[in-house]
Parts: sequence; C-alpha cells; structure tokens
Amino acid sequence: MFKVVLTGYMGSGKSTIGALLAQQLGCALVELDFEIEAAAGISIPTLFAEKGELAFRKLEHHSFEQWMQSPDSFVMSTGGGTPCYYNHHEWLQREHVYSVYLKGSVATLAQRLQSQKAQRPLIQNLPEAELEEYIAKHLFDRNYYYLQSRFIVPIDGKTPEEIVMEIRQWL
Ligand code: S3P
Repeated sequence: MFKVVLTGYMGSGKSTIGALLAQQLGCALVELDFEIEAAAGISIPTLFAEKGELAFRKLEHHSFEQWMQSPDSFVMSTGGGTPCYYNHHEWLQREHVYSVYLKGSVATLAQRLQSQKAQRPLIQNLPEAELEEYIAKHLFDRNYYYLQSRFIVPIDGKTPEEIVMEIRQWL
C-alpha cells in the first residue's frame, strides 16, 4: 500500500502532476477538491460564498482523513490549504505516505494564478496589483506545513513531464 500526496500552493500544478503520475503508476487519482465538491453537492466557490471557509475546511478535513485512513493506494492532489489545518501535516511523514511538495516561486505562482483567480475564492476578489504580495505573505505562513513533505521539487521552468520524472526517480 502506498499513498503519494502532492502538496503545494494554489497554481503549483498539483492536479496536472497528480493526473500524469497516477496514470504512469497505474493507480487511482484522488482529487481532494473534487471529493469536497461531491460531498457538498456544490462547487468550491459556491461553498465558500454560501457556507463560509470553515464549512469548507470541515469537509476537507473529513475527506482527507477518510482517504488517509483507507487501505487504498493512490496519488492525491490536495488543495493548497489541506496540510495547514487540523494537524493534517502529521500525515505527511507517516509510513507508506510519499509526500511531495511542488515548490513554486512567488513570481511563478502569481503569474499562473492571474488567469485562474475566478475558481479560487481566497484570491477571487484581489486586485491584480496585490496578488504577488498576498501570495508572498500567505506562502510564508504555509511553508512551515508544505516543508514537512518528504520530497521537495522546485517547479519553476519545468514541464509537468520533467516534474513527474523527478518524483518517480525518488519513489
Ligand atoms: C485552497 C486551495 C484550493 C481549494 C480552496 C482553498 C487554499 O485548491 O482547495 O479554494 O486554501 O489554498 P487548489 O490548491 O487546487 O487551487
């Protein structure tokens, strides 16, 4: 049994890398954001808007714990905040858990997120001029959790295929 858990900030490519990696390893892909949307019956932006972030975090917690406690093998793409709540970071170093931090620079993340703000409630309403500063501060807080992943892959300037290859060489 193995669980590959991809962590990283919004825009770091967890979903793209997760899909490629699961395909290559021939195992299931768990997209935590989709699990939460399925459980809530509404999209994440609607969930944030109608029930608030706390309701989202509770569903995220429930779904994450359920998968981590299951006997299943999978590649999981977490949400950007998943390791940062409810002691979830403690799972990152457990036996059979291969946690990988997709580490992007503030500049790379800001550039990618500029065109993807609408689906992400935490940054949806930020003026473009403030995005980079917001990410820099947020990443500073969150790095403590991300850095508890067992393998760290810098992603700047790399293709998804190169990143997947690095992860596979480590596994
Ligand atoms: C969040 C990241 C999102 C999603 C939710 C909250 C966060 O996932 O879980 O909007 O707290 O960083 P992605 O990292 O896939 O965008």
